[in-house]
Amino acid sequence: MKNYNILQVLILDDEIDFTEELKDYFQNSGFISFSANTVKDGYDILSKNEIDLLILDVRLPSENGLDILKNVKALYPNIEVIMVSAHGDMDTVIQAIRLGAFDYMRKPLRFIDLQIALERTQKYLQMQRKLADMEEKHSLITKNIQTSIGHHFIGKSPQIIEIFELAKTASKYSDVNVLITGESGTGKEIIARIIHYMSQHSENYFGAINCSSITESLMESEFFGHKKGSFTGAISDKKGLFEVCHEGTLFLDEIADMPYTIQPKILRAIEEKIITRVGDTKPIRTNFRIISATNYDLQKLVDENKFRLDLLHRLNTLHIHIPPLRERTEDIAPLLIDFIEEFSIKINKPIQHISEKVFEMLKKYSFPGNVRELRNLTERAIILCKGNSLEVHDFPLPAINKKNLTPAKSGDARVNLVQKEIEIIRKALDACEYNQSVAAESLGISRHALIRKMRKHGITIVKQEEPGEMLGSESAGS
Ligand SMILES: Nc1ncnc2c1ncn2[C@@H]1O[C@H](COP(=O)(O)OP(=O)(O)OP(=O)(O)O)[C@@H](O)[C@H]1O
Ligand SMILES: [Mg+2]
Repeated sequence: MKNYNILQVLILDDEIDFTEELKDYFQNSGFISFSANTVKDGYDILSKNEIDLLILDVRLPSENGLDILKNVKALYPNIEVIMVSAHGDMDTVIQAIRLGAFDYMRKPLRFIDLQIALERTQKYLQMQRKLADMEEKHSLITKNIQTSIGHHFIGKSPQIIEIFELAKTASKYSDVNVLITGESGTGKEIIARIIHYMSQHSENYFGAINCSSITESLMESEFFGHKKGSFTGAISDKKGLFEVCHEGTLFLDEIADMPYTIQPKILRAIEEKIITRVGDTKPIRTNFRIISATNYDLQKLVDENKFRLDLLHRLNTLHIHIPPLRERTEDIAPLLIDFIEEFSIKINKPIQHISEKVFEMLKKYSFPGNVRELRNLTERAIILCKGNSLEVHDFPLPAINKKNLTPAKSGDARVNLVQKEIEIIRKALDACEYNQSVAAESLGISRHALIRKMRKHGITIVKQEEPGEMLGSESAGS
């Protein structure tokens, strides 16, 4: 590993006195330093040495400093550049920073400024190296798969490593259906994508459908496709997901919200691998793998007659459970570092230091929103932090959750969210005189999902003439 305690510095400036003076200064401060007074000599030194820091004059007689900066950044992206400008050259400085210069200094140079700039660069480079090491160690997937799924997959806890091994096994057996369970934000969808993109069918379609966001009436056509004219709005023939995902993967997200009435049809399609489009009679053979995900206990729903046992058995050939982040706290630090890297690049705000107290505090937090919440908290912290260091106050956690490892019961953002959901559901029901199908349609969820949410929140619909009675075909114990 490169030692960033000893920086190698190159000073490129046409003034010989200036470069010699700086060179001596760096040497005396324990750095390895080089000087060049022509652009050609500069490139020559860059090509032969592992330079970490380039001190570059904005104005050189033969070439514009900004062009050199651009070129150096393209050839050696890991070299940091500090620009040296004359007084009153602010526009050039701004341009230089935009082009990726790390810092700038004014002539005449004060040694104190130089000292500060050097310390900053050194710390930054050390952090960059740490981030790179962390990523090498804790990213469990290759760059190719990372590109396909659009995310890193980070973790070092025994639980996450075992999950990754299971996903690798699942990817080898493409006729095995996989059920992924875990709280919201634990990474169920990432695992589903990893299984698909690590499999030999990665070139084929990965189709994802969220069972709670599609209305019951459209569901059949979504899965099976339809023939032109089979219902109002069917203006042309359409392939359904079962067909589109031939030799690929169909990801059924929030499977618990799959309407009970459609479950037998889905089961038959999965078992027989032969489907017919809505309004058609022609059988179509198709071969697909089902990966489903839920944060509900499906066995409990089976016991309550809300989910079919035979379908559960079909979906559940391999079960992968992702534990909540609070039960695998070793993953917090590598995830945090990965997210810092992602957002500091996106927001263009290099972070040089993370207070140890941040790690300690996050380890104690219960993370009701799991990895997604950590990601959001990190983005927010980087946007709001002053300077280049992340401190405890940059992560404002809901107070009640700081000491308590169990999810909050009241008084926090989650409760507000629940109240908001109740309000929205009531409004939608009010607006359509309590017709659940219409309300579900207007909310963009299935009637089944609406009824489940109403039960969960204890929302009852009271008929004017018969107070206390529930409307709708299904009884409503909450
Ligand atoms: N191990 C991980 N490494 C990197 N990022 C992760 C990891 N796990 C989750 N994430 C990130 O957290 C966010 C949520 O992940 P994902 O959507 O897969 O969760 P989910 O379990 O499907 O959530 P929900 O139940 O709400 O649909 C995503 O931004 C994802 O990139
Ligand atoms: Mg999801």
